[in-house]
Amino acid sequence: MKSRLLQIAQLGNPVLKKKAKVVKNIKDKSVQELIDDMLATVMDVNGVGLAAPQVYQSLQIFIMASHPNPRYPNAPFMKPTAVVNPKILEYSKERERGWEGCLSVPGIRGFVPRSVKIKVEYVTRTGKRVQRGFSGFLARIFQHELDHLKGIMFIDRVESAKDLMSEKEWRRLMDLKQKEQLSV
Ligand code: NI
Repeated sequence: MKSRLLQIAQLGNPVLKKKAKVVKNIKDKSVQELIDDMLATVMDVNGVGLAAPQVYQSLQIFIMASHPNPRYPNAPFMKPTAVVNPKILEYSKERERGWEGCLSVPGIRGFVPRSVKIKVEYVTRTGKRVQRGFSGFLARIFQHELDHLKGIMFIDRVESAKDLMSEKEWRRLMDLKQKEQLSV
């Protein structure tokens, strides 16, 4: 079956503030189709992650799809993965700030503190329960997407509104930094 591209809820939509429900019937056709549609949608819009509430479904599902693209030029490659009923079992004490954006908050970037390493548990789309670790940018994506399932946005996580930036200015800053690195 052909997957569909889904509409993305924007900041202020009530669905983004709700706690998402546990998925009980992962093998249901409706859940499997939702996952297929989310996978197609996140790739279409150059996302590295997408949570079900962002496509108006208040369910504990998100996609991690890290790959370098125009929105995140330095993202590592990861096979697009559906994460169902996730939780974080352990957070590293070490945290670092990094730039995040969100498909539901277009045009804005935030410098967000996150744990550098996490240990997580979730269920795959085939119903298998897995535990694994993530670090760096992938740990950041997981924490960002899990927040969506709790009704939390990245702009809630910045330490100060001064850590928010327009995407245009952010791109200018990143270009400058890259040039600085090249000239060293
Ligand atoms: Ni987001």
